[in-house]
Amino acid sequence: MIEITNLTKRFGDLVAVDHLSLSIGPGEVFGFIGPNGAGKSTTMKILACLMKPDEGSARVDGLDVMRDGDRIRRILGYMPDFLGVYDDLTVDEYLQFFAAAFEIPRSRRRTVVDSVLELTDLTGKRKAMVDSLSRGMQQRLGVARVLIHEPKVLLLDEPASGLDPRARIEMRSLITELGRMGKCLMVSSHILTELGEMSTSIGIIERGRLLFAGSLAEALARVRGGERIAIRPEGDADLVSAAATLAADPRVARAFAEDGNLVVELTPGEHGHHFVLERLMVSGVRIASFAPQAVKLEDAFLTLTKGALQ
Ligand SMILES: Nc1ncnc2c1ncn2[C@@H]1O[C@H](COP(=O)(O)OP(=O)(O)OP(=O)(O)O)[C@@H](O)[C@H]1O
Ligand SMILES: [Mg+2]
Repeated sequence: MIEITNLTKRFGDLVAVDHLSLSIGPGEVFGFIGPNGAGKSTTMKILACLMKPDEGSARVDGLDVMRDGDRIRRILGYMPDFLGVYDDLTVDEYLQFFAAAFEIPRSRRRTVVDSVLELTDLTGKRKAMVDSLSRGMQQRLGVARVLIHEPKVLLLDEPASGLDPRARIEMRSLITELGRMGKCLMVSSHILTELGEMSTSIGIIERGRLLFAGSLAEALARVRGGERIAIRPEGDADLVSAAATLAADPRVARAFAEDGNLVVELTPGEHGHHFVLERLMVSGVRIASFAPQAVKLEDAFLTLTKGALQ
């Protein structure tokens, strides 16, 4: 649904998007991750036909952003990072306005607006003034607006920014739901853990260059050193000697005491934890908690972007 090849955009000397290539299919939620100024919004604006690239090509459902702007706009919904403010409009009037702008026949507008209100959980707010909505509701209204013309492709630029934890979870489930409906979504964010949970694939961009694209599992596999286990002992235990015993095992890369915990890093490729437990029991260490720690998306991000940051 989205096919970008060697896309490049310059602002004077600055290369905002640098020979970017990626493709996103239907039903895919592509998490677009990158620090400030990486080129995420610029890429989305090009896809939304709001900005022309200097080099390369971008296609949406086979249509070229340079030539087929009008047709792309009919199948694509773009939610910018900054929602314009509309005074003196209710939620319902606001959505009716966009339904009219998208030339949805008058007889169908009521049904269409009702269904997007329902999907974004804003039915109860239809009579509220747009500028009185909380930030989270405004973001949901932004999503409702881009759904009006039933686009197949959605570009959401930081839809979760400024939201409280509950609103974030709601936004995440809304995005997951849209993916399940078969839509192709590109979602940008700095909030890595959040994108990890809802994305079916991720792309990491920095200084206009794509550093990684693939599944979350692939990103994690690249950075996964050894698995890490944090063990909290019960009562007083000689963690130093327990660490020394474990460190002598070839399945253990490192073992050390840290903040009253025993931290064990397994040799890369080693997945069994059980021997660690057994050895500690033999050494007489009583265990209050035993917690294998998952590698987080943040770790993946930091490792994958390290090269470009240096
Ligand atoms: N209209 C413009 N004129 C000049 N420079 C621009 C313009 N738009 C973007 N840039 C520059 O291009 C680079 C990429 O910007 P972009 O907005 O795409 O980044 P981003 O990844 O969306 O960042 P953020 O996370 O802060 O939203 C930045 O250095 C920015 O200053
Ligand atoms: Mg941006």
